[in-house]
Amino acid sequence: MRRRWLAAVAITMAGLLGVTACGGGNTPAGQATGGATKAASSDVEVFSWWTGPGEADGLAAMRKIFETQNPNLKFLDAAVAGGSGDKAKALLQTKLQGGEPPDSFQGHAGAELQGYIKAGQLEDLTSLYDELKLKDVFPAQLVEQISVDGKIYSVPVNIHRSNVLWFNPAVLKEAGVAGAPKTIEEFIAALGKVKAKGKIPLSIGSEWTVTHLLENVMLGSLGTDGYNALFQPGANWAAPEVTKALESFKTIMSFAGDPQDDWQPAAKQVADGQAAFNIMGDWAYGYFHNPPDGGLGKTSKTDFDWAPAPGTEGTYLWLSDSFTLPKGAKNREGALAWLKVAASKEGQDAFNPKKGSIPARKDADAALYTDYLGDALKDWSGNKLAGSVQHGVAVSQPWLTAINEQVGLYLGKQDVAALQKGLADAATANAQ
Ligand code: GAL
Repeated sequence: MRRRWLAAVAITMAGLLGVTACGGGNTPAGQATGGATKAASSDVEVFSWWTGPGEADGLAAMRKIFETQNPNLKFLDAAVAGGSGDKAKALLQTKLQGGEPPDSFQGHAGAELQGYIKAGQLEDLTSLYDELKLKDVFPAQLVEQISVDGKIYSVPVNIHRSNVLWFNPAVLKEAGVAGAPKTIEEFIAALGKVKAKGKIPLSIGSEWTVTHLLENVMLGSLGTDGYNALFQPGANWAAPEVTKALESFKTIMSFAGDPQDDWQPAAKQVADGQAAFNIMGDWAYGYFHNPPDGGLGKTSKTDFDWAPAPGTEGTYLWLSDSFTLPKGAKNREGALAWLKVAASKEGQDAFNPKKGSIPARKDADAALYTDYLGDALKDWSGNKLAGSVQHGVAVSQPWLTAINEQVGLYLGKQDVAALQKGLADAATANAQ
């Protein structure tokens, strides 16, 4: 396994060095990208990492509404390829520090956004909230995650779920696995059965998808309270329960297939019947389900099915994408026009069914959220909550970087004790 990951890391580095901004196939010709081109005054530069199949569809749907409502503004898609924003966020830092912010950028509600706020990089949007009466339509708990000292700093467009086990029903059947495993132990047993049949038990993507898997195994093993407690000051990362969770992570990772370039090719292995399981956020639903011009056009329950990640039923491991108004935005008015669309019922109801997420607004049209998204809406209103690590809720960006470094080291050595110590040190250095 070590060799495979060394090769994958080399690919990731190459990607990083040649950071490519990509307009998701719908950037007007001659315009681009990542901010390299000087924006004309009508341009509204919107920075995200939604370029790939599935996620770009959601952005395109919201962009369409923006363009219809603002014929004199031009949407400049400054999206930077790479799932989970690993490359985008690095470039964003350079732009912010260089005083060249985009007009609006995507940031995760929670600790990640708090970092931008505390660094003084964002404008206070409280007056926009008052004007549009947004406090009435967003859940109070969510508004808290994007506020400091009572001021609100972003517009959440969705709620995503991190803890989804995607699986191929036919591959499970062939391996004699009766249904989605409900516990970590059942999961490990199921992975073994699939392996015996010669299929890939668990598909995996680039390195960040391993951290994504890790947060899911930690939640499934420690339970909601135990998991949430890890992100409080003074948490005990050296506890034997954490060792047990990390040992399970090691066992589960031993069933992983060859690392794919990003989350889409890993998810596709499940939809194509090459792999049995993939643990990924529900953006995978958009990718599986959207018609073939953006997604895979697969049939739910036949080509792919879903369940809460093993051991996590009853808990929503959540995250939320939100858009900001950075200080120094060149087109402040244009950015506000974009934020109004992002905040609107119409914008959210166009975006989310394509994105594979449920709306952040409480008053969205429930009839639009069917199939997987119907389950998600139901669970969001009844489940306990835990915050995603990889997607910015539970840990700050520096803390996440430290965790990702430990996961990278783990992939080389597969040393659970070293991983636990590294994670404990990362928590000591970064918890506030
Ligand atoms: C998350 C983001 C999602 C989705 C995913 C994969 O961090 O919140 O919207 O884009 O990455 O790229």
